[in-house]
Amino acid sequence: MTACSQKAMKQLSNLLRARFPYIYIPTWEEERAVDMIQQTVADESYIRTVRKVYQWSQSGGFTDEEGKKIASTSTPAQAIEFICKCTENAVFILKDFHVYFGVGHRPADFEVIRRLRDALPDLKFAESMKNVIFISPSLNIPDDMQKEISIFEFPLPSEEEIREKLEEIIEENPSLQVYLDQEGKAQLARAAVGLTLQEAENAFSRAIVSRGCLDTESLQTIFEEKNQVIKKTGILEFIRSDLQADDIGGLENLKKWLSKRNRSWTETAKKYNIPAPKGVLITGVPGCGKSLTAKAMSAMWTLPLLKLDFGKIFSGLVGSSEENMRRALSTAEAVAPSILWVDEIEKGLGGVNGVNGDSGTSTRVFGTFLTWMQEKQSPVFVVATANNIQNLPPELLRKGRFDEIFFVDLPTKRERKEIFQLHLKKRLNNDYIGSRIQINNDLLERLALETEGFVGAEIEQAVVSALYEAFFNSRPLLEEDLEYAIRSTVPLSVTQAESIRALRQWANVRAVAATAKEDLENYEKSDPEETENDIRKSRGGRSLDF
Ligand SMILES: Nc1ncnc2c1ncn2[C@@H]1O[C@H](COP(=O)(O)OP(=O)(O)OP(=O)(O)O)[C@@H](O)[C@H]1O
Ligand SMILES: [Mg+2]
Repeated sequence: MTACSQKAMKQLSNLLRARFPYIYIPTWEEERAVDMIQQTVADESYIRTVRKVYQWSQSGGFTDEEGKKIASTSTPAQAIEFICKCTENAVFILKDFHVYFGVGHRPADFEVIRRLRDALPDLKFAESMKNVIFISPSLNIPDDMQKEISIFEFPLPSEEEIREKLEEIIEENPSLQVYLDQEGKAQLARAAVGLTLQEAENAFSRAIVSRGCLDTESLQTIFEEKNQVIKKTGILEFIRSDLQADDIGGLENLKKWLSKRNRSWTETAKKYNIPAPKGVLITGVPGCGKSLTAKAMSAMWTLPLLKLDFGKIFSGLVGSSEENMRRALSTAEAVAPSILWVDEIEKGLGGVNGVNGDSGTSTRVFGTFLTWMQEKQSPVFVVATANNIQNLPPELLRKGRFDEIFFVDLPTKRERKEIFQLHLKKRLNNDYIGSRIQINNDLLERLALETEGFVGAEIEQAVVSALYEAFFNSRPLLEEDLEYAIRSTVPLSVTQAESIRALRQWANVRAVAATAKEDLENYEKSDPEETENDIRKSRGGRSLDF
Protein backbone atom coordinates (compact mmCIF):
# COMPACT_ATOMS: atom_id res chain seq x y z
CA MET A 1 0.00 0.00 0.00
CA THR A 2 1.45 3.35 -0.97
CA ALA A 3 1.57 6.36 1.30
CA CYS A 4 -0.82 8.20 -1.01
CA SER A 5 -3.48 5.52 -0.94
CA GLN A 6 -3.04 5.05 2.81
CA LYS A 7 -3.91 8.70 3.28
CA ALA A 8 -6.93 8.40 1.00
CA MET A 9 -8.09 5.28 2.84
CA LYS A 10 -7.76 7.02 6.18
CA GLN A 11 -9.86 9.94 4.95
CA LEU A 12 -12.50 7.66 3.50
CA SER A 13 -12.70 5.55 6.63
CA ASN A 14 -13.24 8.70 8.68
CA LEU A 15 -16.29 9.55 6.58
CA LEU A 16 -17.63 6.01 6.78
CA ARG A 17 -17.16 5.75 10.52
CA ALA A 18 -18.82 9.10 11.08
CA ARG A 19 -21.83 7.67 9.22
CA PHE A 20 -21.85 10.11 6.38
CA PRO A 21 -24.80 8.68 4.46
CA TYR A 22 -23.87 9.77 0.94
CA ILE A 23 -20.30 10.10 -0.30
CA TYR A 24 -19.55 11.24 -3.83
CA ILE A 25 -16.26 10.35 -5.53
CA PRO A 26 -15.82 12.26 -8.78
CA THR A 27 -13.20 10.29 -10.70
CA TRP A 28 -12.40 8.75 -14.07
CA GLU A 29 -10.72 5.92 -12.25
CA GLU A 30 -13.69 3.81 -11.28
CA GLU A 31 -11.77 0.60 -10.93
CA ARG A 32 -9.06 2.15 -8.76
CA ALA A 33 -11.67 3.84 -6.58
CA VAL A 34 -13.62 0.60 -6.09
CA ASP A 35 -10.39 -1.14 -5.24
CA MET A 36 -9.59 1.44 -2.59
CA ILE A 37 -13.08 1.22 -1.07
CA GLN A 38 -12.87 -2.57 -0.92
CA GLN A 39 -9.52 -2.46 0.81
CA THR A 40 -10.66 0.20 3.28
CA VAL A 41 -13.84 -1.51 4.43
CA ALA A 42 -12.15 -4.90 4.78
CA ASP A 43 -9.33 -3.61 6.97
CA GLU A 44 -9.97 -3.37 10.70
CA SER A 45 -7.05 -1.01 11.17
CA TYR A 46 -9.01 1.56 9.18
CA ILE A 47 -12.56 0.77 10.10
CA ARG A 48 -13.88 -0.75 13.29
CA THR A 49 -16.90 -2.45 11.71
CA VAL A 50 -15.85 -4.33 8.61
CA ARG A 51 -18.40 -3.95 5.81
CA LYS A 52 -19.56 -5.77 2.73
CA VAL A 53 -19.39 -4.03 -0.64
CA TYR A 54 -22.32 -4.06 -3.06
CA GLN A 55 -21.84 -2.50 -6.48
CA TRP A 56 -24.63 -1.17 -8.64
CA SER A 57 -24.54 -0.17 -12.29
CA GLN A 58 -27.25 0.58 -14.81
CA SER A 59 -26.36 -2.48 -16.82
CA GLY A 60 -26.95 -5.13 -14.19
CA GLY A 61 -28.27 -3.76 -10.91
CA PHE A 62 -26.49 -4.79 -7.71
CA THR A 63 -23.85 -7.47 -7.50
CA ASP A 64 -22.39 -8.80 -4.27
CA GLU A 65 -18.76 -9.36 -3.40
CA GLU A 66 -18.59 -12.58 -5.38
CA GLY A 67 -20.01 -10.80 -8.42
CA LYS A 68 -23.37 -12.56 -8.05
CA LYS A 69 -26.32 -10.53 -9.31
CA ILE A 70 -28.97 -9.54 -6.81
CA ALA A 71 -32.40 -10.03 -8.34
CA SER A 72 -34.85 -7.14 -8.78
CA THR A 73 -32.37 -4.31 -8.24
CA SER A 74 -31.93 -3.08 -11.80
CA THR A 75 -33.84 0.21 -11.52
CA PRO A 76 -32.64 3.03 -9.26
CA ALA A 77 -35.86 2.76 -7.24
CA GLN A 78 -35.32 -0.97 -6.65
CA ALA A 79 -31.68 -0.32 -5.81
CA ILE A 80 -32.59 2.23 -3.13
CA GLU A 81 -35.20 -0.12 -1.72
CA PHE A 82 -32.56 -2.85 -1.48
CA ILE A 83 -30.24 -0.50 0.40
CA CYS A 84 -32.97 0.41 2.91
CA LYS A 85 -33.96 -3.19 3.55
CA CYS A 86 -30.41 -4.47 3.92
CA THR A 87 -29.57 -5.37 7.51
CA GLU A 88 -25.86 -6.03 7.00
CA ASN A 89 -22.97 -3.67 7.59
CA ALA A 90 -22.34 -2.60 4.04
CA VAL A 91 -21.18 0.01 1.58
CA PHE A 92 -23.27 0.46 -1.55
CA ILE A 93 -21.41 1.75 -4.58
CA LEU A 94 -23.72 3.42 -7.09
CA LYS A 95 -22.01 4.01 -10.42
CA ASP A 96 -23.01 6.79 -12.79
CA PHE A 97 -25.90 8.02 -10.66
CA HIS A 98 -25.04 11.54 -11.79
CA VAL A 99 -27.25 10.97 -14.82
CA TYR A 100 -30.30 10.90 -12.54
CA PHE A 101 -29.24 14.21 -11.09
CA GLY A 102 -29.64 15.87 -14.50
CA VAL A 103 -26.86 16.21 -17.07
CA GLY A 104 -26.80 18.11 -20.32
CA HIS A 105 -30.30 18.04 -21.76
CA ARG A 106 -31.40 15.21 -19.52
CA PRO A 107 -33.49 16.62 -16.69
CA ALA A 108 -33.04 15.55 -13.08
CA ASP A 109 -35.12 12.54 -12.05
CA PHE A 110 -36.98 13.90 -9.04
CA GLU A 111 -38.38 10.55 -8.08
CA VAL A 112 -34.88 9.14 -7.66
CA ILE A 113 -33.76 12.21 -5.72
CA ARG A 114 -36.83 11.98 -3.45
CA ARG A 115 -36.19 8.30 -2.78
CA LEU A 116 -32.58 9.03 -1.89
CA ARG A 117 -33.70 11.68 0.55
CA ASP A 118 -36.34 9.38 2.05
CA ALA A 119 -33.63 6.78 2.61
CA LEU A 120 -31.61 9.18 4.75
CA PRO A 121 -32.96 8.27 8.21
CA ASP A 122 -32.44 4.64 7.43
CA LEU A 123 -28.79 5.20 6.49
CA LYS A 124 -28.11 7.41 9.46
CA PHE A 125 -29.91 5.56 12.23
CA ALA A 126 -30.24 1.91 11.18
CA GLU A 127 -28.66 -0.60 13.53
CA SER A 128 -26.33 -1.76 10.81
CA MET A 129 -23.62 0.54 9.45
CA LYS A 130 -24.54 1.53 5.92
CA ASN A 131 -23.12 4.14 3.55
CA VAL A 132 -23.78 4.91 -0.08
CA ILE A 133 -20.89 5.92 -2.34
CA PHE A 134 -21.54 7.45 -5.74
CA ILE A 135 -18.72 7.06 -8.26
CA SER A 136 -19.04 9.16 -11.41
CA PRO A 137 -16.67 10.69 -13.91
CA SER A 138 -18.25 14.07 -13.33
CA LEU A 139 -19.38 15.85 -10.22
CA ASN A 140 -23.04 16.64 -10.35
CA ILE A 141 -24.99 17.07 -7.13
CA PRO A 142 -28.63 18.11 -7.17
CA ASP A 143 -29.34 21.28 -5.22
CA ASP A 144 -31.74 19.46 -2.88
CA MET A 145 -28.99 17.12 -1.79
CA GLN A 146 -26.07 19.50 -1.39
CA LYS A 147 -26.20 19.14 2.38
CA GLU A 148 -26.45 15.38 2.47
CA ILE A 149 -23.69 14.49 0.04
CA SER A 150 -20.01 14.73 1.01
CA ILE A 151 -17.45 14.96 -1.74
CA PHE A 152 -14.40 12.77 -1.49
CA GLU A 153 -11.46 13.94 -3.58
CA PHE A 154 -9.75 10.87 -4.91
CA PRO A 155 -6.12 11.71 -5.65
CA LEU A 156 -4.38 10.72 -8.87
CA PRO A 157 -2.01 7.80 -8.40
CA SER A 158 1.30 8.45 -6.69
CA GLU A 159 4.71 7.68 -8.11
CA GLU A 160 4.73 4.42 -6.12
CA GLU A 161 1.39 3.29 -7.51
CA ILE A 162 2.54 4.02 -11.05
CA ARG A 163 5.78 2.23 -10.35
CA GLU A 164 3.81 -0.85 -9.25
CA LYS A 165 1.85 -0.70 -12.51
CA LEU A 166 5.10 -0.50 -14.49
CA GLU A 167 6.50 -3.54 -12.68
CA GLU A 168 3.24 -5.36 -13.41
CA ILE A 169 3.52 -4.57 -17.14
CA ILE A 170 7.13 -5.78 -17.18
CA GLU A 171 6.21 -8.97 -15.37
CA GLU A 172 3.32 -9.71 -17.71
CA ASN A 173 5.55 -9.38 -20.78
CA PRO A 174 8.46 -11.78 -20.26
CA SER A 175 9.72 -11.17 -23.80
CA LEU A 176 9.95 -7.40 -23.29
CA GLN A 177 13.51 -6.04 -23.30
CA VAL A 178 14.06 -3.73 -20.35
CA TYR A 179 17.28 -1.73 -20.26
CA LEU A 180 16.56 0.11 -17.04
CA ASP A 181 18.02 -0.11 -13.58
CA GLN A 182 15.96 0.69 -10.48
CA GLU A 183 16.57 4.43 -10.81
CA GLY A 184 15.63 4.30 -14.50
CA LYS A 185 12.31 2.69 -13.66
CA ALA A 186 11.71 5.26 -10.94
CA GLN A 187 12.35 8.05 -13.46
CA LEU A 188 9.86 6.55 -15.87
CA ALA A 189 7.24 6.30 -13.14
CA ARG A 190 7.94 9.86 -12.02
CA ALA A 191 7.49 11.08 -15.59
CA ALA A 192 4.00 9.59 -15.66
CA VAL A 193 2.85 11.23 -12.42
CA GLY A 194 -0.15 13.44 -13.17
CA LEU A 195 -1.84 10.72 -15.22
CA THR A 196 -4.52 8.28 -14.16
CA LEU A 197 -3.38 4.69 -13.81
CA GLN A 198 -5.03 3.80 -17.11
CA GLU A 199 -3.40 6.74 -18.86
CA ALA A 200 -0.03 5.82 -17.38
CA GLU A 201 -0.49 2.27 -18.64
CA ASN A 202 -1.32 3.60 -22.11
CA ALA A 203 1.75 5.82 -22.03
CA PHE A 204 3.99 2.86 -21.10
CA SER A 205 2.40 0.73 -23.83
CA ARG A 206 2.97 3.43 -26.39
CA ALA A 207 6.61 3.77 -25.30
CA ILE A 208 7.06 0.01 -25.61
CA VAL A 209 5.46 -0.12 -29.07
CA SER A 210 7.42 2.84 -30.42
CA ARG A 211 10.85 1.60 -29.31
CA GLY A 212 10.30 -2.13 -29.03
CA CYS A 213 11.76 -2.01 -25.54
CA LEU A 214 11.91 0.09 -22.36
CA ASP A 215 15.01 2.20 -21.91
CA THR A 216 16.00 5.73 -20.88
CA GLU A 217 14.84 7.04 -24.26
CA SER A 218 11.30 5.95 -23.36
CA LEU A 219 11.21 8.88 -20.95
CA GLN A 220 10.65 11.26 -23.85
CA THR A 221 7.63 9.29 -25.10
CA ILE A 222 6.13 9.29 -21.62
CA PHE A 223 6.59 13.06 -21.30
CA GLU A 224 5.01 13.63 -24.71
CA GLU A 225 2.13 11.33 -23.91
CA LYS A 226 1.55 13.11 -20.60
CA ASN A 227 1.59 16.47 -22.31
CA GLN A 228 -1.01 15.25 -24.80
CA VAL A 229 -3.28 13.95 -22.07
CA ILE A 230 -2.96 17.13 -20.05
CA LYS A 231 -3.53 19.32 -23.08
CA LYS A 232 -6.74 17.41 -23.79
CA THR A 233 -8.30 19.01 -20.75
CA GLY A 234 -8.03 22.14 -22.89
CA ILE A 235 -7.03 24.38 -20.02
CA LEU A 236 -3.77 23.01 -18.71
CA GLU A 237 -0.36 22.90 -20.30
CA PHE A 238 3.15 22.02 -19.20
CA ILE A 239 5.44 24.93 -19.90
CA ARG A 240 9.07 24.24 -20.61
CA SER A 241 11.07 27.39 -20.73
CA ASP A 242 14.75 28.26 -20.72
CA LEU A 243 14.09 31.60 -19.07
CA GLN A 244 16.00 32.28 -15.87
CA ALA A 245 15.86 34.98 -13.21
CA ASP A 246 18.68 36.73 -15.10
CA ASP A 247 16.38 37.19 -18.07
CA ILE A 248 14.19 39.54 -16.05
CA GLY A 249 15.37 43.13 -16.03
CA GLY A 250 14.70 44.90 -12.74
CA LEU A 251 11.78 43.76 -10.50
CA GLU A 252 14.38 43.12 -7.81
CA ASN A 253 11.89 43.12 -4.96
CA LEU A 254 9.74 40.50 -6.59
CA LYS A 255 12.76 38.39 -7.50
CA LYS A 256 14.12 38.63 -3.97
CA TRP A 257 10.77 37.68 -2.46
CA LEU A 258 10.56 34.65 -4.74
CA SER A 259 14.10 33.54 -4.11
CA LYS A 260 13.51 33.65 -0.35
CA ARG A 261 10.67 31.21 -0.79
CA ASN A 262 12.61 28.82 -2.94
CA ARG A 263 12.95 25.31 -1.40
CA SER A 264 10.22 26.08 1.10
CA TRP A 265 8.63 22.68 0.44
CA THR A 266 11.75 20.73 1.40
CA GLU A 267 12.32 18.71 4.54
CA THR A 268 14.79 21.32 5.76
CA ALA A 269 12.10 24.00 5.53
CA LYS A 270 9.81 21.83 7.64
CA LYS A 271 12.34 22.02 10.47
CA TYR A 272 11.85 25.78 10.50
CA ASN A 273 8.09 25.25 10.85
CA ILE A 274 7.35 27.56 7.96
CA PRO A 275 4.12 26.94 6.11
CA ALA A 276 4.49 26.21 2.40
CA PRO A 277 3.81 29.46 0.51
CA LYS A 278 0.40 29.53 -1.18
CA GLY A 279 1.10 31.83 -4.03
CA VAL A 280 1.61 35.28 -5.38
CA LEU A 281 -0.55 37.59 -7.45
CA ILE A 282 1.32 39.78 -9.92
CA THR A 283 -0.61 42.71 -11.32
CA GLY A 284 0.48 45.75 -13.23
CA VAL A 285 1.03 47.62 -16.40
CA PRO A 286 0.84 45.39 -19.53
CA GLY A 287 4.16 44.35 -21.07
CA CYS A 288 6.30 44.86 -17.97
CA GLY A 289 7.29 41.27 -17.32
CA LYS A 290 4.48 39.55 -15.43
CA SER A 291 4.24 36.52 -17.70
CA LEU A 292 8.01 36.59 -18.11
CA THR A 293 8.49 36.24 -14.35
CA ALA A 294 6.01 33.37 -14.15
CA LYS A 295 7.82 31.54 -16.95
CA ALA A 296 11.22 32.08 -15.34
CA MET A 297 10.02 30.60 -12.05
CA SER A 298 10.27 27.04 -13.28
CA ALA A 299 14.04 27.40 -13.67
CA MET A 300 14.37 29.59 -10.57
CA TRP A 301 12.80 26.94 -8.38
CA THR A 302 13.58 23.89 -10.54
CA LEU A 303 9.97 22.78 -10.39
CA PRO A 304 7.50 21.77 -13.10
CA LEU A 305 5.41 24.69 -14.33
CA LEU A 306 1.81 24.18 -15.35
CA LYS A 307 -0.16 26.92 -17.03
CA LEU A 308 -3.86 27.07 -16.34
CA ASP A 309 -5.82 29.02 -18.90
CA PHE A 310 -8.80 30.40 -17.02
CA GLY A 311 -10.08 32.20 -20.10
CA LYS A 312 -10.58 28.96 -21.97
CA ILE A 313 -12.70 27.47 -19.23
CA PHE A 314 -15.55 29.72 -20.17
CA SER A 315 -14.91 29.98 -23.87
CA GLY A 316 -17.17 27.03 -24.59
CA LEU A 317 -14.29 25.38 -26.45
CA VAL A 318 -13.68 22.80 -23.81
CA GLY A 319 -16.05 20.32 -22.21
CA SER A 320 -17.40 20.55 -18.73
CA SER A 321 -15.77 23.49 -16.98
CA GLU A 322 -15.98 22.04 -13.52
CA GLU A 323 -14.48 18.72 -14.50
CA ASN A 324 -11.66 20.44 -16.31
CA MET A 325 -10.92 22.58 -13.30
CA ARG A 326 -10.90 19.59 -10.96
CA ARG A 327 -8.67 17.65 -13.29
CA ALA A 328 -6.31 20.60 -13.66
CA LEU A 329 -6.00 21.02 -9.90
CA SER A 330 -5.51 17.34 -9.23
CA THR A 331 -2.84 17.17 -11.93
CA ALA A 332 -1.00 20.08 -10.33
CA GLU A 333 -1.24 18.29 -6.98
CA ALA A 334 -0.07 14.99 -8.39
CA VAL A 335 3.11 16.51 -9.80
CA ALA A 336 3.71 18.61 -6.65
CA PRO A 337 5.92 20.25 -5.64
CA SER A 338 4.92 22.30 -8.64
CA ILE A 339 4.05 25.80 -9.80
CA LEU A 340 0.61 26.53 -11.17
CA TRP A 341 0.57 29.64 -13.30
CA VAL A 342 -2.83 31.20 -13.82
CA ASP A 343 -2.28 33.77 -16.53
CA GLU A 344 -4.71 36.65 -16.83
CA ILE A 345 -6.83 35.33 -14.02
CA GLU A 346 -9.38 38.13 -14.47
CA LYS A 347 -10.39 36.73 -17.87
CA GLY A 348 -11.88 33.70 -16.24
CA LEU A 349 -13.70 35.64 -13.61
CA GLY A 350 -15.87 37.91 -15.71
CA GLY A 351 -18.91 35.77 -15.10
CA VAL A 352 -18.42 35.78 -11.36
CA ASN A 353 -19.28 39.43 -11.26
CA GLY A 354 -22.15 38.87 -13.61
CA VAL A 355 -20.41 40.38 -16.64
CA ASN A 356 -20.67 37.20 -18.67
CA GLY A 357 -24.08 35.62 -19.07
CA ASP A 358 -23.18 32.28 -17.59
CA SER A 359 -22.54 33.33 -14.02
CA GLY A 360 -23.71 30.05 -12.47
CA THR A 361 -20.91 27.99 -13.94
CA SER A 362 -18.32 30.73 -13.51
CA THR A 363 -19.19 31.15 -9.87
CA ARG A 364 -19.00 27.44 -9.21
CA VAL A 365 -15.73 26.96 -11.07
CA PHE A 366 -14.23 29.98 -9.42
CA GLY A 367 -15.50 28.73 -6.07
CA THR A 368 -13.81 25.38 -6.67
CA PHE A 369 -10.56 27.23 -7.34
CA LEU A 370 -10.83 29.47 -4.27
CA THR A 371 -11.67 26.62 -1.95
CA TRP A 372 -8.77 24.66 -3.32
CA MET A 373 -6.41 27.59 -2.81
CA GLN A 374 -7.58 27.92 0.75
CA GLU A 375 -7.42 24.27 1.66
CA LYS A 376 -4.69 22.80 -0.49
CA GLN A 377 -2.23 20.69 1.47
CA SER A 378 0.11 19.75 -1.32
CA PRO A 379 2.94 22.12 -2.21
CA VAL A 380 1.50 23.72 -5.32
CA PHE A 381 2.60 27.34 -5.57
CA VAL A 382 0.16 29.51 -7.48
CA VAL A 383 1.43 32.40 -9.59
CA ALA A 384 -1.52 34.39 -10.83
CA THR A 385 -1.06 37.30 -13.20
CA ALA A 386 -3.67 39.96 -13.85
CA ASN A 387 -3.98 43.19 -15.82
CA ASN A 388 -7.49 44.22 -15.21
CA ILE A 389 -7.75 44.29 -11.47
CA GLN A 390 -11.16 45.97 -11.57
CA ASN A 391 -12.64 42.59 -12.44
CA LEU A 392 -11.02 40.75 -9.59
CA PRO A 393 -13.53 39.74 -6.96
CA PRO A 394 -12.63 40.83 -3.42
CA GLU A 395 -12.66 37.26 -2.13
CA LEU A 396 -9.65 36.54 -4.33
CA LEU A 397 -7.67 39.35 -2.76
CA ARG A 398 -8.55 38.53 0.82
CA LYS A 399 -5.61 37.84 3.11
CA GLY A 400 -4.79 34.19 3.25
CA ARG A 401 -5.37 33.48 -0.43
CA PHE A 402 -2.15 34.88 -1.78
CA ASP A 403 0.92 35.46 0.35
CA GLU A 404 1.58 38.74 -1.41
CA ILE A 405 0.24 40.93 -4.19
CA PHE A 406 2.88 42.60 -6.33
CA PHE A 407 2.51 45.56 -8.61
CA VAL A 408 4.74 45.82 -11.65
CA ASP A 409 4.97 49.42 -12.76
CA LEU A 410 6.68 51.14 -15.70
CA PRO A 411 10.39 50.33 -15.37
CA THR A 412 12.63 52.88 -13.63
CA LYS A 413 15.72 54.18 -15.41
CA ARG A 414 17.95 51.55 -13.87
CA GLU A 415 15.48 48.85 -14.86
CA ARG A 416 15.30 50.14 -18.42
CA LYS A 417 19.08 49.97 -18.63
CA GLU A 418 18.95 46.36 -17.54
CA ILE A 419 16.21 45.50 -19.99
CA PHE A 420 18.12 47.11 -22.87
CA GLN A 421 21.24 45.30 -21.87
CA LEU A 422 19.45 41.95 -21.77
CA HIS A 423 17.79 42.31 -25.14
CA LEU A 424 20.81 43.81 -26.87
CA LYS A 425 23.13 41.11 -25.52
CA LYS A 426 20.67 38.40 -26.51
CA ARG A 427 20.50 39.60 -30.11
CA LEU A 428 23.97 41.01 -30.74
CA ASN A 429 25.68 37.71 -30.11
CA ASN A 430 27.05 37.81 -33.59
CA ASP A 431 30.32 39.60 -34.34
CA TYR A 432 29.17 41.28 -37.50
CA ILE A 433 25.78 42.62 -36.34
CA GLY A 434 27.26 43.94 -33.10
CA SER A 435 30.51 45.30 -34.54
CA ARG A 436 29.50 48.98 -34.64
CA ILE A 437 27.99 49.31 -31.19
CA GLN A 438 29.44 49.01 -27.69
CA ILE A 439 27.00 47.84 -25.07
CA ASN A 440 28.47 49.88 -22.24
CA ASN A 441 27.10 51.99 -19.43
CA ASP A 442 27.11 55.19 -21.47
CA LEU A 443 25.04 53.71 -24.26
CA LEU A 444 22.59 52.13 -21.83
CA GLU A 445 22.31 55.38 -19.90
CA ARG A 446 21.44 57.29 -23.10
CA LEU A 447 18.92 54.69 -24.23
CA ALA A 448 17.29 54.55 -20.82
CA LEU A 449 16.93 58.32 -20.70
CA GLU A 450 15.25 58.35 -24.09
CA THR A 451 12.79 55.64 -23.15
CA GLU A 452 11.20 57.03 -20.04
CA GLY A 453 7.64 55.74 -19.92
CA PHE A 454 8.41 52.68 -22.05
CA VAL A 455 7.40 49.23 -20.85
CA GLY A 456 9.77 46.24 -21.17
CA ALA A 457 7.94 44.88 -24.20
CA GLU A 458 8.32 48.25 -25.97
CA ILE A 459 12.04 48.30 -25.24
CA GLU A 460 12.35 44.81 -26.67
CA GLN A 461 10.31 45.90 -29.68
CA ALA A 462 12.56 48.94 -30.23
CA VAL A 463 15.61 46.66 -30.32
CA VAL A 464 13.88 44.39 -32.83
CA SER A 465 12.77 47.33 -35.06
CA ALA A 466 16.31 48.72 -35.01
CA LEU A 467 17.64 45.35 -36.13
CA TYR A 468 15.16 45.36 -39.01
CA GLU A 469 16.49 48.73 -40.04
CA ALA A 470 20.07 47.44 -40.01
CA PHE A 471 19.03 44.30 -41.87
CA PHE A 472 17.19 46.35 -44.49
CA ASN A 473 20.33 48.43 -45.04
CA SER A 474 22.61 45.39 -45.03
CA ARG A 475 24.89 46.70 -42.31
CA PRO A 476 25.63 46.18 -38.61
CA LEU A 477 23.36 47.75 -36.01
CA LEU A 478 23.98 51.44 -35.26
CA GLU A 479 22.96 53.50 -32.26
CA GLU A 480 20.97 55.68 -34.66
CA ASP A 481 18.79 52.68 -35.54
CA LEU A 482 17.89 52.34 -31.87
CA GLU A 483 17.25 56.05 -31.51
CA TYR A 484 15.07 56.08 -34.59
CA ALA A 485 13.05 53.08 -33.34
CA ILE A 486 12.61 54.76 -29.96
CA ARG A 487 11.42 58.03 -31.52
CA SER A 488 8.91 56.14 -33.67
CA THR A 489 7.29 54.49 -30.66
CA VAL A 490 4.33 56.00 -28.91
CA PRO A 491 4.49 54.24 -25.60
CA LEU A 492 1.48 52.75 -23.94
CA SER A 493 2.03 55.02 -20.96
CA VAL A 494 0.97 57.90 -23.19
CA THR A 495 -1.97 56.25 -24.89
CA GLN A 496 -3.19 54.50 -21.73
CA ALA A 497 -2.24 57.10 -19.16
CA GLU A 498 -5.67 57.05 -17.55
CA SER A 499 -5.84 53.32 -17.04
CA ILE A 500 -2.29 53.26 -15.66
CA ARG A 501 -3.28 55.93 -13.16
CA ALA A 502 -6.27 53.85 -12.10
CA LEU A 503 -4.06 50.78 -11.76
CA ARG A 504 -1.64 52.66 -9.53
CA GLN A 505 -4.37 53.99 -7.33
CA TRP A 506 -5.64 50.50 -6.83
CA ALA A 507 -2.14 49.20 -6.17
CA ASN A 508 -1.18 51.88 -3.66
CA VAL A 509 -3.42 50.39 -1.02
CA ARG A 510 -3.31 46.75 -1.96
CA ALA A 511 0.01 45.81 -3.51
CA VAL A 512 3.73 45.93 -2.98
CA ALA A 513 6.03 47.40 -5.62
CA ALA A 514 7.96 44.78 -7.58
CA THR A 515 10.78 47.27 -8.06
CA ALA A 516 13.47 47.44 -5.37
CA LYS A 517 12.96 50.04 -2.65
CA GLU A 518 16.28 51.82 -3.18
CA ASP A 519 15.51 52.00 -6.88
CA LEU A 520 12.22 53.72 -6.14
CA GLU A 521 13.86 56.14 -3.72
CA ASN A 522 16.40 57.13 -6.34
CA TYR A 523 13.68 57.43 -8.88
CA GLU A 524 15.26 59.94 -11.15
CA LYS A 525 13.80 63.07 -12.61
CA SER A 526 15.49 63.46 -15.91
CA ASP A 527 13.48 66.42 -17.09
CA PRO A 528 12.89 69.07 -14.45
CA GLU A 529 10.24 70.68 -16.64
CA GLU A 530 7.84 67.86 -16.11
CA THR A 531 5.34 68.01 -13.30
CA GLU A 532 5.00 65.65 -10.38
CA ASN A 533 1.77 64.46 -11.90
CA ASP A 534 3.41 63.16 -15.00
CA ILE A 535 2.52 59.53 -15.54
CA ARG A 536 6.16 58.62 -16.04
CA LYS A 537 7.21 60.13 -12.73
CA SER A 538 4.76 58.65 -10.29
CA ARG A 539 4.74 55.07 -9.12
CA GLY A 540 2.22 52.56 -7.84
CA GLY A 541 2.39 50.00 -5.07
CA ARG A 542 3.79 50.26 -1.56
CA SER A 543 7.53 50.35 -1.36
CA LEU A 544 8.60 47.50 0.89
CA ASP A 545 11.95 45.91 1.33
CA PHE A 546 12.22 42.15 1.59
N1 LIG B 1 11.42 43.40 -16.99
C1 LIG B 1 11.67 42.86 -18.18
N2 LIG B 1 12.89 42.34 -18.46
C2 LIG B 1 13.16 41.79 -19.65
N3 LIG B 1 12.28 41.72 -20.64
C3 LIG B 1 11.04 42.21 -20.44
C4 LIG B 1 10.68 42.81 -19.20
N4 LIG B 1 9.39 43.20 -19.27
C5 LIG B 1 8.97 42.84 -20.50
N5 LIG B 1 9.95 42.26 -21.20
C6 LIG B 1 9.86 41.74 -22.59
O1 LIG B 1 8.55 41.94 -23.05
C7 LIG B 1 7.90 40.70 -23.32
C8 LIG B 1 6.47 40.78 -22.83
O2 LIG B 1 6.44 40.77 -21.43
P1 LIG B 1 5.39 39.93 -20.59
O3 LIG B 1 4.69 38.98 -21.50
O4 LIG B 1 6.04 39.38 -19.41
O5 LIG B 1 4.43 41.08 -20.18
P2 LIG B 1 3.16 41.01 -19.25
O6 LIG B 1 3.45 41.89 -18.08
O7 LIG B 1 2.78 39.62 -18.98
O8 LIG B 1 2.13 41.73 -20.17
P3 LIG B 1 0.58 41.46 -20.43
O9 LIG B 1 -0.09 42.14 -19.33
O10 LIG B 1 0.33 42.11 -21.74
O11 LIG B 1 0.37 40.00 -20.44
C9 LIG B 1 8.71 39.66 -22.59
O12 LIG B 1 8.66 38.42 -23.24
C10 LIG B 1 10.11 40.25 -22.60
O13 LIG B 1 10.78 39.89 -23.78
MG1 LIG C 1 1.16 38.42 -19.66
